Amino acid sequence: MENELLLLQGAMGIELDVYIESLTEVEELEFNGFLFWKGRLAGKSVVISKTEMGVLNATIATMTAIEQFRPDYVINQGTAGGHVEDIHTNDIVIAQKAEYLNSLIMPEKKEGEGSDSLLWFFDKKIPAMEADESLIQYFQKEEYKQGNLLTGTIGTGDIFSREADRIHWIHQEKDNLCEDMETYAVYQVCQRLQVPCVSIRVISNNELLGESFDRNSARVLQKHILKCIQDR
Ligand code: 5AD
Repeated sequence: MENELLLLQGAMGIELDVYIESLTEVEELEFNGFLFWKGRLAGKSVVISKTEMGVLNATIATMTAIEQFRPDYVINQGTAGGHVEDIHTNDIVIAQKAEYLNSLIMPEKKEGEGSDSLLWFFDKKIPAMEADESLIQYFQKEEYKQGNLLTGTIGTGDIFSREADRIHWIHQEKDNLCEDMETYAVYQVCQRLQVPCVSIRVISNNELLGESFDRNSARVLQKHILKCIQDR
């Protein structure tokens, strides 16, 4: 990554604070209402981007950043909720594949027949998105001691699933390890604009295990990613 520009994204302040504290030669910028911090981080040229939460914000923020800064790579990172029982807070998922969780179709029901969300189904025409293979390998190489380092599928939607049956159903349909609100959008924009990208997510909560949102996981992830960037 020598002489190259890295776009480093997070949706919330708690997912970016470690980077911003460590950034030097800082230039703070705003485009289309989104905040960016340009500077040097761990010996590399970076733009840190606060995408805000959700699919639409992530889409606009990623397009804006690519057009303004022309980065060589996009690293999306932040928190995610676990969707299987053997994944815990502080485990990290390298999102090789992203599935879209917003595209739900409902079977017809007449007035008075109620609603059963477990009968809804995903639109099979929506393709999965893939991360850049060499970026996946780059992040697989660094040792991680605070939890497991996994590579697999993430599901992205404007949802925060907390119902165990719903979570099991999503996993059955999409084979995802975890859920967030941005990765699929970033992958789609990056594929269109032909910029290599990967999303690295730390498990901050697992509703199946009663592990509620732990904001410190976001710092654990940032420190690990900083180490990855610094080491190579
Ligand atoms: N479901 C959806 N998004 C989650 N996030 C963390 N846990 C979850 C979850 N269980 C991430 C999203 C969003 C914010 C709520 O944190 O990506 O930015």
